[in-house]
Amino acid sequence: MPFTPNRAFKANPRLMVGAKGIYYTTADGRRVLDGMAGLWCVNAGHGQERITQAIRDAAGQLDYVSSFQMSHPLAFRAAERIAALAPEGLDHVFFVNSGSEAVDSALKIARAYHKARGEGHRTRLVGRAKGYHGMGFGGLSVAGMGRHKREFGPLLPGVDHLPHTYSREHQAFSRGQPEWGAHLADALEHIVEVNDASTIAAVIVEPVTGSGGVLPPPKGYLERLRAICDKYGILLIFDEVITGFGRLGAPFGSSALGVTPDIITCAKGMSNGAVPMGGVITSAKVYDAFMQGPEAAIELLHGYTYSGHPLACAAAIAAMDVYEEQDIFANCARVSKHWEEQAHALRSEPHIADIRNIGLLCAIDLVPKADAAGTRGVAVGAKCYEAGVLVRAPGDMIVLSPPLIITNSEIDHIFETVRTAIRAID
Ligand SMILES: Cc1ncc(COP(=O)(O)O)c(C=O)c1O
Repeated sequence: MPFTPNRAFKANPRLMVGAKGIYYTTADGRRVLDGMAGLWCVNAGHGQERITQAIRDAAGQLDYVSSFQMSHPLAFRAAERIAALAPEGLDHVFFVNSGSEAVDSALKIARAYHKARGEGHRTRLVGRAKGYHGMGFGGLSVAGMGRHKREFGPLLPGVDHLPHTYSREHQAFSRGQPEWGAHLADALEHIVEVNDASTIAAVIVEPVTGSGGVLPPPKGYLERLRAICDKYGILLIFDEVITGFGRLGAPFGSSALGVTPDIITCAKGMSNGAVPMGGVITSAKVYDAFMQGPEAAIELLHGYTYSGHPLACAAAIAAMDVYEEQDIFANCARVSKHWEEQAHALRSEPHIADIRNIGLLCAIDLVPKADAAGTRGVAVGAKCYEAGVLVRAPGDMIVLSPPLIITNSEIDHIFETVRTAIRAID
């Protein structure tokens, strides 16, 4: 099992047998509120009938067709719908099957883009400390979570990392984007100085660091990163696998935060989590660089057997319909103020070291136990689950990312459950 203590799981399995709306049903018949939207992906809630029906219909109509030198209409329709939601100027979509594939594809596209323009010397990739970009060798190389990398090296050469943007000293209990930290983007200038801009292909960051601890970008930080990339001809990639499809109350994190990258990677909410799917969205500038040379030539020698799978495309189109018709992103924007207030109301509870929030994301840091770091978060996570609320608890942190259809009273229920759990641990 991925990211799971396999033996412990088998001794005490946590099995789900159904899901509807914001609730799972467990194998022992309990209802558990899904405080993580699956794994940051079921944005419109579970069991959206329109998506389920679209997948059924697609399976009955065309179970599979390759996307290599052939395709099917749903793939183009899905791409059009996604491009229409993406920030202005980002209008071409390349389909993959996961966030990890999206990231590795985007990194390859960035290098090939420069090569196509006669700048094949631009190969270096820049990631950021605390970044998470999936589990492929490319994504792992640019990522900045050391514990994920340790056992698998050597990773890609020619990779640099920006510093992360978190400082408890300067930012603790920030609501939304912290005031402090825009200057941290200037570290890119140092990387340019050491390596020369002519060697650098792309910078990849999550607009809001997700798995690394829900770190909203400091005010002005992304703008500064954008400006430095422009100055040196470096592509800016936003990994929006979590922030895409409404999590910040707008279609993409880029739209919510007002900074447009050259490439977006996305997955998860693209199909509302119902079928594995991901994508790379590029600007016309990037796309056009490939559309040179003989028309019979393959422009991008890259792709996957299941790129643009009919079931995934049907799910994506239906997910876009649901997002639009049920006004899901607007609901996220509407309830996120209440979310913020309820999150920060925990500040005076025992063991609280920091609380961060943006959109419908929240992380609560607990002070580690002197003799057993990591155990407090796990204990709170277990108590919440017993009380019928599923949260994520990586170490001494509680992470929340519920379906975007959540209501104010359901938000109250989540935070009351977390409060009770925190009070119950030592
Ligand atoms: C920002 C980001 N990028 C990439 C990924 C990898 O996505 P997947 O697990 O679908 O490969 C994730 C997964 O959580 C993610 O949060």
